[in-house]
This record gives sequence, structure tokens and C-alpha cells, in this order.
Amino acid sequence: MATIEETAQAIPILVDEPATKPKLQAEVVEATPSVTRSQINYPHSNLTLEDRHVDELRPLKVGVIGAGLSGVLAGILLPAKVPEIQLTIFEKNEDVGGTWLENQYPGVRCDIPSHVYQATFSPNTQWTEEFAEGKEIWNYWQYQARKYDVYRYIKFNSNIQTAQWDDKSSKWVLQVEDTKSATTSHEEFDFILSAIGRFNAWRLPKYEGIEEYQGHLRHTSNWDSSFDVTGKSVAVIGNGASGIQLVPNIQPLVKRLDHYARSKTWIAGTWVGNERVFGPQPFSSDTLQSFQDPQAYLKYRKEAEGTYWRGIKAMRRESAEVNAMRDDYIGIMKKRLKKKPELLSRLIPDFSPHCRRLTPGPGYLEAITEDNVDYIQTPIRRLTKTGIETIDGHHREVDAIFCATGFNIDFAPPFPIQARGVDLNKAWKPDGEVGYPKTYLGLAAPGFPNLLFVGGPHATGASGTVPHSVENQLTYYAKILRKVSSQGIKSIAPSSKAVDEFIEYADAYFPTTPLTDNCSSWANGGRPGARIHGAWPGSASHQTFIRREPRWEDWEYEYLSPSGNRYAYFGNGRTTRELDPDTDMTRYLTLPSEVDLRNIHESWWQWP
Ligand SMILES: Cc1cc2nc3c(=O)[nH]c(=O)nc-3n(C[C@H](O)[C@H](O)[C@H](O)COP(=O)(O)OP(=O)(O)OC[C@H]3O[C@@H](n4cnc5c(N)ncnc54)[C@H](O)[C@@H]3O)c2cc1C
Ligand SMILES: NC(=O)c1ccc[n+]([C@@H]2O[C@H](COP(=O)([O-])OP(=O)(O)OC[C@H]3O[C@@H](n4cnc5c(N)ncnc54)[C@H](OP(=O)(O)O)[C@@H]3O)[C@@H](O)[C@H]2O)c1
Repeated sequence: MATIEETAQAIPILVDEPATKPKLQAEVVEATPSVTRSQINYPHSNLTLEDRHVDELRPLKVGVIGAGLSGVLAGILLPAKVPEIQLTIFEKNEDVGGTWLENQYPGVRCDIPSHVYQATFSPNTQWTEEFAEGKEIWNYWQYQARKYDVYRYIKFNSNIQTAQWDDKSSKWVLQVEDTKSATTSHEEFDFILSAIGRFNAWRLPKYEGIEEYQGHLRHTSNWDSSFDVTGKSVAVIGNGASGIQLVPNIQPLVKRLDHYARSKTWIAGTWVGNERVFGPQPFSSDTLQSFQDPQAYLKYRKEAEGTYWRGIKAMRRESAEVNAMRDDYIGIMKKRLKKKPELLSRLIPDFSPHCRRLTPGPGYLEAITEDNVDYIQTPIRRLTKTGIETIDGHHREVDAIFCATGFNIDFAPPFPIQARGVDLNKAWKPDGEVGYPKTYLGLAAPGFPNLLFVGGPHATGASGTVPHSVENQLTYYAKILRKVSSQGIKSIAPSSKAVDEFIEYADAYFPTTPLTDNCSSWANGGRPGARIHGAWPGSASHQTFIRREPRWEDWEYEYLSPSGNRYAYFGNGRTTRELDPDTDMTRYLTLPSEVDLRNIHESWWQWP
């Protein structure tokens, strides 16, 4: 079978002008030419012209925290889209991939089709399975990092411990821990992009006795593959997507499995019509062969991905679609629980589908009906040396406890990010001075200049795809970085008023959706009834439309020029480009057959 290296389509980086400083070859225009004042009969300008060309860009030092797929995409797109960028990506692990590097529990795989969960510009025609295993997804992103030379920007084993904004220098100072030598250093940046992932800071439950338990205890994101579950008695705590994926994959191997599921949950059956079965769903060699035809493959991709943009109807509270979905899922669950029909009423939630993130859970319902599984909804009281005790006093001994107990979903960054006396790590916590992740369109925070979030709060809608959303967000950030680097801007932050109005919109929108039903989910920080911060208030298409062009009026700026004149960067009234005899000044002239009137004079990289 062909490898990704052999088959992926090479997509050239679309920069026809190298991202290097333009060279100045010809005459230098005198910045403040002498004029005879007597010829001028209007008041003298107080502005001293700067001796610079308007297209001389300020090289921006940009630090990205995290090299999961978001950090890798940043390493591909930002150098292509932001001339003069000086990029560093910090990654605490030894390699790229984030989620897909760290999660190695049995059965970890995407529940979105492989051909949909990939970079839009660099598809892999040869995914082996319709829903790839974690390892194959990790290989894909690692290959993208190699293909686009992203590794040159990454510092591995570099754990960011703090980020501190210095108003005097208008720089972010990162404290970086070298996890190998346990030493720390400091690095300064003009901009920080936080790409630390929503599901990276994993959480063990805080039960009394957890320290005393003497068996094997692991979070699913911290799996120890040297531990063999065969023939053991084990507990799995949690029935989110990780628990639902783990249970059927270890149930046939273990002697006994106690599944602690304190909340009820929907099992979706299929995602947007993709048929799901337990285990691999490999592509046939004929299908893989047919994907070698670029036109056929593009058609397949467009059909597969298109369905992910239209799922929003079922996000209307009590809509006919939600009600139909509820009935459909009850039917599916009933069928799959036929061995133990009594479980149905213990599983069906009183909240709507889509309140929690849906999962098709192939094999899960079948697994929990097996005789070696105990489905336990009684809350846990404590852990003991040998097992788990529930509040009814029942003690169950186990050789291993697997905690599929989720992540730091309050979205408060897991390390201090401080500016102007506020620390997001504390302020965004439910008991903090803000109390939730208060952002501008999920992109930036008021009072935190030059700080941008990738895949953070409000990152994606209920539809669309994660890679598309990340690419789109990075494209928005490229526009910000180009503006700052070319327009004499020192710092940029969203205005408080814009943020308040966005929150007002989101607070009006979410109650129209099942997300505000009475459930615990990562969209509400695991707190039923709490403000929704995990999802975009609208569909993915809605989000893409809004993020197409920045609303510059929503941002506040500080300028580099001490004059305070926002146009000081206009400089000497010339561009370096026009002074360079080798520059093509008429790139807007093309063959008439290539003209698309919608694109006329729209591209940022082509101007006289
Ligand atoms: C088990 C699992 C399965 C999933 N399945 C799906 C799926 O089927 N479909 C889907 O759309 N999404 C799925 N997701 C969500 C998935 O996390 C995202 O789709 C995507 O991988 C996020 O990429 P990311 O780069 O934003 O974050 P991550 O992949 O989490 O990467 C974040 C990176 O930041 C690094 N980092 C964090 N803090 C620091 C620090 N202080 N200093 C330095 N580095 C730091 C981490 O080490 C990590 O490499 C799944 C998540 C999990 C946990
Ligand atoms: N491709 C996939 O199939 C896949 C697989 C894994 C993850 N993911 C992605 O990653 C996200 C996170 O999934 P996740 O399952 O790891 O986390 P999760 O959805 O947050 O689920 C965590 C589970 O642990 C339970 N829990 C937490 N603390 C507990 C405690 N102290 N005692 C008992 N139970 C406790 C929660 O119960 P409550 O609900 O009662 O709080 C919940 O059932 C998913 O939503 C999805 O986006 C996808």
C-alpha cells in the first residue's frame, strides 16, 4: 500500500513574492525636503516625516504555544501569509500531533471520516480506513510538518510556564521550561498565539483515597501500553467520547469491567449518515485506486465534507429535527441494547441530543450488555487501596482504574497568562473575577494586547470541520499580523464594548439551542446551566462568513510613532517596490481569459 509520502498531493506554498525584506536599490527620497514656506498658504504640519518607505515591514516575532494540528497549520500558513514573520513554535512534547500523539488508548480513532479530518490544501488520498485510527492521524500531521518544513520553527520539550505582557516594551515574555534539563529561560515576542488544545490538560478525578489506590491508575490520555488488561478486573470512569471508545475495545479482553457512568448519554448511531461499525472500516484497494484520479477524488471529498456543513438544523431547541433525532436514537439504542433492555431507561437522558457532544459509539452499547460488564450510575464516594467504593457503600475491587474523566474544560489556560494586572488562568475560572472565558469572537481577550487563541473558546460551530476552522482562524490572524507589521501598530486588542456585545449575542443565541439543556458538557465547562463558551454561536458557515474579514473597528490600537499620528508610517511617500527596477509593477495585468472580476485588485500579495 502506498504511504502518505508517496501519494499526498504536493501543494506549493502560494507566495509569489518571497517573504523577505524588499531591497532598496534606487534613489532615496529625502524625508523632509526643503520647501519655500512662502509658497504654501495653509498651516504648517507638525508631523516630521519618517525616513522610511511605506512598504518596509516590521518583522514580527510570533510565538505559537503548541504543535498539535493547530500549531502545525500555523507553521505552514503563517510563514506563507505573513511576510517577515519570525516564528517560533513551543511544544512540551517530543513531537508534533498533540491529541493524536498523546492519546494511545485502545480503540482511539476519529469519529469524523478521515477524508474530512485533514488539511484542506494537502489531502491524503490513501487513508487506509474510513475512520482512521489515532496512529494514522498522527502520521498524517507529522508528515505535513515535514512536508512544509514546519520542524524548523519548533522547539520541542519546551513547556510554557507563564506568559507575561510588558506594557513598556509591548512584548510578551514567555517563561519556557526545558523539560529535559528542567531549566527555565525567557523569550520575548511581539505576538503570542495560544494553540494549546481544548483537550490537552487532562484531569484525574479528585476522589478521596486516589493517592492510596495501589493498582494501576491512568487517565486515558496518559495510557501505558505496557499494561496488559487481559484477564484483569478493571474500572472505566466516565462515559464521554473517550470512555465510550475505550469500553468496547477492552471489554472482550478483561475478566470484569466496572463502568462508572454518572450521567446519562445519547449514542448517535451514525454521524451525518456515515455507516459506523465496531472496528476498522478499511477502504478497498479499488476505492484507493480510484482516489488516484484527482477529479474523482475531489468529487468524493466534496461530497463527504459537504455534509458536515449542513448539520445545523438539529441545533434548534425542540425543532422537528431534534425531536426526530431523539426518536431515531431511542430506536437505535433499543436495538443495540437488546441483550439487556432494562439498560435503556438508565441511559436515555432527559436532555436533547446535541446538548453533549454526540458520539456514534460503535460497539459501546453492545459491550455494556455483556455479562462481564457492570454499568454503575451510583456516584463514587472514594477510592481505596484495592478499588472503588460508591456512596451506597458497595466496594468493588479492581486491578486497574482507567479515568476517561476529561480535560480542563473551563478553558482558563492551565498556566498564568498575565497582562495589566489580570491573569486569565485565574480570572476565567468559574470563581474568578471574570468567571468564564470572555473573548472577542473566540479570537482574543479585552485588555490582552497581541494575544490570539487558536481552537480556544467558541472555536468551532456545531458543523464544519476542525481543520477548516483552524485554517480559517489562522488566515484571520495572518490579516492581523500583516496589518500590525505594515501599519506602524505597536499593539492591538479587542475593545471591551465589542466583547460585551459579542457575549450579549452569544447569550441570546445559545438558549435557542439544545446546548443549554440540563447536561454537563465541555461547551458549558461541565456545569449544567453555565454560560456556553465551548462552541461558536452559530453554524460553521456562519462563523466562516463572520471571520472572512476582520471588523477593524472592533479593535483598539497603539501606534509605534511617538507623534501619535496613525499615518506616521506613511513615511516618505514612496514604496521600495517602485524604486526597485527589477520589480514587476503591473502584476494586475493578466490574460483576459484569466480575469475573474470578483478578484480584481483583491489579493494582498499583488500590488504595484
Ligand atoms: C481522544 C480524542 C479524540 C478526538 N477525536 C476527534 C474527532 O474524531 N474529530 C474531531 O473533530 N476532533 C476530535 N478531537 C478533538 C481534537 O483535540 C481536535 O480535533 C484537534 O486535534 C485539536 O488540535 P489542537 O492542535 O488545537 O490541540 P491539541 O491536539 O490538543 O494540541 C495542543 C498542543 O499544545 C501543546 N501544549 C499545551 N500546553 C502547552 C504548554 N504549556 N507549553 C507547550 N506546549 C503546550 C500540547 O502538548 C499539544 O501538543 C478528539 C480529542 C481527543 C482528546
Ligand atoms: N473521536 C472520538 O470518538 C473521540 C474520542 C475521545 C474524545 N473525543 C473528543 O474529546 C472530547 C472529550 O472527550 P472525553 O470523553 O475525554 O471527555 P468528556 O467528554 O469531558 O467526558 C468526561 C467524562 O468523565 C466523567 N467524569 C468527569 N469527572 C468525573 C468524576 N469525578 N467522577 C465520575 N465521572 C467523571 C464525565 O461525567 P459528567 O458528564 O457527569 O461530568 C464524563 O462522562 C469529546 O467530546 C470529543 O470532542 C472524541
